[in-house]
Amino acid sequence: MYTKNNILSYIKNDIHDVIILNEIDSTNNYAKENIEKLDAGSLVIAKKQLGGRGRRGRSFLSPEGGLYFSIITTADSSLCSGCFPTVVTAVSVCRAIEECCGLSCDIKWVNDIYLNGKKLCGILCESTSVNDKIIIGIGININKPVNGFSKEISDIATALSEHVNSIDSSKLIAVVYNNIMTHSPDFNIKSVIDEYRTRSFVINKDIYVLKNEEKIKAKAIGITDSGELTVEYPDKTKENLFYGDISVKLNI
Ligand code: BTN
Repeated sequence: MYTKNNILSYIKNDIHDVIILNEIDSTNNYAKENIEKLDAGSLVIAKKQLGGRGRRGRSFLSPEGGLYFSIITTADSSLCSGCFPTVVTAVSVCRAIEECCGLSCDIKWVNDIYLNGKKLCGILCESTSVNDKIIIGIGININKPVNGFSKEISDIATALSEHVNSIDSSKLIAVVYNNIMTHSPDFNIKSVIDEYRTRSFVINKDIYVLKNEEKIKAKAIGITDSGELTVEYPDKTKENLFYGDISVKLNI
């Protein structure tokens, strides 16, 4: 299990504060509620979340045994539009898992990290109205929940412990933090977008685009330099999808 001192021993950049909570509804909520007090560079970690949140109002199951943390940083508004922090974070998490666990992960546009075809990690970046601060929330399944994953997600979720014997969670949190902070505050994705594309496992796959209440068949054919997903519909028309209100589901 991670400790504040161990995390700090791996941190390369200046860090403002590390707050470890036993239990909270959501580290992103905690960061939002305390955003005035939390300086850029703060890290909020919870051993368990009772109301973990994902994109599009979904919940993120967060029992004890996983890593749930939020990084508070600032984002240069001229470069930080839309999904840039999410793209940088996804690449940062993949690199960290590779460094700390020797495992190569894939990215499911826009914010999910997969390992061997199953979801291992979710990312939720949220902007605030205070001094350009943004909140980067990351949830990584380290161990399976005591009673296993729930029926709804047991076929689509995985945990690191299913793939490696021992995990230094302090190092993993710190390396993710270091990787993200290298790109803050500009979050210019030029330097990582090629890696994001290479790690993407939706390109050339048949997918469903979930837009409002609609589920539309399409094929993912690329990712633009701004991180949008380019899809082609059965009538051959193409569209660049901005991540806002959309998510994709593999059509398999
Ligand atoms: C998703 O799967 O759509 C994103 C999940 C993001 C989960 C992390 S865990 C830490 C932070 N706190 C939250 O409530 N959500 C993020």
